[in-house]
Amino acid sequence: MTEVRPPAGASATLDPQDWDELRAQGHRMLDDMIDYIATIRERPVWQPIPDSVRAQFRQPLPRAPSDLADAYRDFTDFVVPYTTGNVHPGFMGWVHGGGSAVGMLAEMLAAGLNANLGGRDHMPIEVERQIVDWTRQMFGFPATASGIFVTGTSMANLMAVLVARTAALGKPSRQGGIGEAGAALTAYTSKAAHGCITRAMEIAGLGSNALRSIAVDASHRIDVAALRAAIARDRAAGRDPFLVVASAGTVDIGAIDDLQAVAELCREEDIWFHVDGAFGALAILSDQLAPRLAGIQAADSIALDFHKWGQVPYDAGFLMVRDGDKHRDAFASPAAYLRRETRGLAAGAEWPCDLGPDLSRGFRALKTWFTLKTFGTDRLGAVVERSCALARYLETRIKAEPQLELLAPVQLNIVCFRYRAEEADKVNGEIVVNLQESGIAAPSTTVLNGALAIRAAIVNHRTDVGDIDRLVSAVLEFGARRASQARGQIGKAGQSIAV
Ligand SMILES: Cc1ncc(COP(=O)(O)O)c(C=O)c1O
Repeated sequence: MTEVRPPAGASATLDPQDWDELRAQGHRMLDDMIDYIATIRERPVWQPIPDSVRAQFRQPLPRAPSDLADAYRDFTDFVVPYTTGNVHPGFMGWVHGGGSAVGMLAEMLAAGLNANLGGRDHMPIEVERQIVDWTRQMFGFPATASGIFVTGTSMANLMAVLVARTAALGKPSRQGGIGEAGAALTAYTSKAAHGCITRAMEIAGLGSNALRSIAVDASHRIDVAALRAAIARDRAAGRDPFLVVASAGTVDIGAIDDLQAVAELCREEDIWFHVDGAFGALAILSDQLAPRLAGIQAADSIALDFHKWGQVPYDAGFLMVRDGDKHRDAFASPAAYLRRETRGLAAGAEWPCDLGPDLSRGFRALKTWFTLKTFGTDRLGAVVERSCALARYLETRIKAEPQLELLAPVQLNIVCFRYRAEEADKVNGEIVVNLQESGIAAPSTTVLNGALAIRAAIVNHRTDVGDIDRLVSAVLEFGARRASQARGQIGKAGQSIAV
């Protein structure tokens, strides 16, 4: 009989030799990150990364171990000072949420549990189911609706296109491919929709040529008459209209489509009605703003991000589908190694892996649960309302400054404006870069009717009137400085001509 020997050598565990040392280090890290958030105003919103700092993260693969304290020093010295800045109240670029200390703590707890939410029978899955149910309640969806956490709304929109595609072509299309019937499928969204809808059509194999980009009105809301006409034209041409994606908060200016009208049209035409509510959908938490979303309750699916207006730390995208069976039809795949049981760890009929392409999934639900539970939806709704009030305040400040010009109506929490100048696109582009590099404020840019706009999206719950005032003053100052430089150059050019 051969002798059975245990593997030789020291224990391979990654647990520390000295738990007390780890505990002390961990407490330091926790204290530091709480201080980081508590004193965020004392730092610049953003600062450029020196080459020497970038070089710290161009190191060879570490074969040997390092002290946790040394690695942590690299983090504090080289990472912490050079983040995007969205925790800071002066951050107004793109549409970034501010997160919260509560969400940060929840992330630590989730990492400690190291739960995999692809499936199986454990309480973390029940926490995700709780959020699905709360989201159903927010939007008046039926108990049969399904929901799932994903990275972000880009992914949620892609999955919605896939669900709508399978609903239109039938489940066998998953094996047979989209075929001729799929080649006729046609989708509709507005010109103001987010670019991820186009990408979703491409990735779904339907092609972005099969996405009609419908005109918008002066407020960037989809022209419903034009939408109706496009659907009729396509039907007459033998195409198969299967999906309309409406926006609840367009990325450029925060416009909300007439969801009621789109819902009715989709019902009449028997077309899947999806709402991209990346940030705007959570306006449902404000009694004042919720009426603007009327019609969202009739959607077949809604994509939204808890990491934007919900202030949950990144990432926490979410997709909800009214008819859970249709959702499962698009993704569920039986596999021997994922067999479901009635008892034991493999119990629980529906697993999140039945509702999307991911099998391994993190515990995004926990930080969302802690955020909703500890702040309550009324308080989160008040944050949403206040962002909009601050946007209106910025609008009034802009209207009162002769050097500034509003470039789009302020409908929600996004303000697009510019400094009046010759070569305005160039000047305003420079103003935004200067603002970012100054660390005072970090708006981003967009292009509206061919004009480059300074775009301030107010999402962070920490942003206050003072932050708006600082933004306005800095834009005026950078603009004036740029104008005087330009005058100086013209002066110099004039002199040289005179000489
Ligand atoms: C309207 C809209 N849709 C989709 C997205 C994409 O969301 P995510 O960045 O979470 O993928 C955004 C992002 O800002 C958005 O504003």
